Amino acid sequence: MEYPKILKAPIGKHSVKPNLENYEKIRQEFSWDQVSKELDWFDSDHINIGHIAIDAHLKTERRDKKALIWESTKGQIEEFTFADLARLSNRFANVLSQELNIKKGDRVFFFLDRVPEIFIGILGTLKAGGIIGPLFSAFGPEAVKDRMADSRAKVLMTSSALKKKIAEILPELPDLERIVIVQRGKEMSDPEDLSYEEAMARASDSFETFRTSKEDYAIMHYTSGTTGKPKGAVHVHNAVIGHYATAKNVLDLHEEDIYWCTADPGWVTGTSYGMFGPWSNGITQVVYEGGFSAKRWYTFIERWKVTVWYTAPTAIRMLMKAGDELPGQFNLESLRYLCSVGEPLNPEAVIWGASVFGKPFHDNWWQTETGAIMIANYPIQDIKPGSMGRPFPGITPGILDDDFNELPPGIEGNLCVKPPWPSMFRTYWGKEEMYQSRFKNGWYITGDKAKKDKEGYFYFVSRADDVINTAGHLVGPFEVESILIEHPAVAEAGVIGKPDQIAMEVVKAFVSLKEGYEPSEDLQHDIQKFVMKRLSSAAAPREIEFIDSLPKTRSGKIMRRLLKAKELGLPLGDTSTLEED
Ligand code: PRX
Repeated sequence: MEYPKILKAPIGKHSVKPNLENYEKIRQEFSWDQVSKELDWFDSDHINIGHIAIDAHLKTERRDKKALIWESTKGQIEEFTFADLARLSNRFANVLSQELNIKKGDRVFFFLDRVPEIFIGILGTLKAGGIIGPLFSAFGPEAVKDRMADSRAKVLMTSSALKKKIAEILPELPDLERIVIVQRGKEMSDPEDLSYEEAMARASDSFETFRTSKEDYAIMHYTSGTTGKPKGAVHVHNAVIGHYATAKNVLDLHEEDIYWCTADPGWVTGTSYGMFGPWSNGITQVVYEGGFSAKRWYTFIERWKVTVWYTAPTAIRMLMKAGDELPGQFNLESLRYLCSVGEPLNPEAVIWGASVFGKPFHDNWWQTETGAIMIANYPIQDIKPGSMGRPFPGITPGILDDDFNELPPGIEGNLCVKPPWPSMFRTYWGKEEMYQSRFKNGWYITGDKAKKDKEGYFYFVSRADDVINTAGHLVGPFEVESILIEHPAVAEAGVIGKPDQIAMEVVKAFVSLKEGYEPSEDLQHDIQKFVMKRLSSAAAPREIEFIDSLPKTRSGKIMRRLLKAKELGLPLGDTSTLEED
């Protein structure tokens, strides 16, 4: 499809003056220290994200402003002001410190659907000085076990139904002391667990927020790499400076906005921009409990008069697939500003936004490790569809060759960022060496390949590693391969990302079978179900191809590169290290 190479700013209607008024000027003058002065510090070294997000507003007119409007899949609505969230998170902080003996730095994990309690639980944990670890409710037992065992989490907040799903792995978590069950009207199945509702009912409304230092650990999100199990990227309380500044200047949040971030709290976008970014700016946000549905989403935007919408390319492509007529059946005029993250946003999707909603999607780029947006399109700037935009003021990205020389515009290389910045991860939990290996010659190596143009716009090229990005979820091939070979029929497995029109990539597995097993459709389904149940639906191979043996190096390493080249019909490249039959 032909599309314009540039969309000239200002694009669409601008009912408000953009927060970032002059990119060049702000970029020159920007200082993180200056930004941090806009936040309510305890003193020059102590800050707490829970306080900044919620309690800091209690001294202002925002006290009784709505912070969270939640709509369930059944249409039930619950609303919370900043004062409500302050009170409820205080209660939960009391539950943690008084009933569950949570101390500074203890890990509290969340395995819940998108219900209000996850927001209250996260804020309460931060206020109590704990470290939060949100998990996708779509995870299977293996995925939960890997993360909770690695982090040695002390408390898990979940529901009875989700607990049942992972029951088999709970005895394998020796550090887990207590499970908090969010009942929401349902029976408790195990009397030894703590009922969230009962504990909250007896807890006090007042709590003195822990005066965490700016470098104290606050947030953990597990992310996948090429090798090994997922690693816990750890962020500190200081990160909120980055959440705050980017939510203000990239998402362009204004006092009157109704903001909707479609990301799940299990994903870093769901915490940085589904909680801390908007709330530190005192913004009202709406949350829909359910997953994707074009009709439901448009209904939701219409009902709540959403003004700023932060979503992801796969969702946008699914909306495109649902048709151009559908949005016309709804009043979506409230929409003022649209943003996207997580995967490459194809130019067609940018243009589609402009034609259907009267405003394009503004792409931005970042990672679990960067904690906040690094590169972005801004309301005041031209959009070059296909580009992730320009560096956030205060952030210095570069395109480097493998020897860490900066490359000129137009040349592809490694996307790196100059450390430090406030929301930069501070370690991979328990894997300091691996963390250090991400920093070289004064740069943080992102693991993405990209290029930039003469005007400083960055373009994503590919991942530099084997990590699969399926609908915005990073899936480590090793994780999937490890589960696959636990299936009784599977001898060996190699996993790659196969390009997909909607999800960008889907997981494809090449599998060789043990003696006595024959390839069949039934076996294929059985293996798919096996991975789906143990890991998650995102990680389950969409396609399985049975092959006699997998290409391996002489040292026995499966060569995913060859599997991928074979799949895409590309030249096989250097095969001199291949194992000989
Ligand atoms: O490969 C890049 C891709 O997603 C990775 C980060 O994923 P994750 O750690 O799960 O972070 C999620 C929060 C954004 C990146 O290394 N990615 C992210 N944004 C974009 C992107 N690829 C292309 N364009 C983007 N805008």
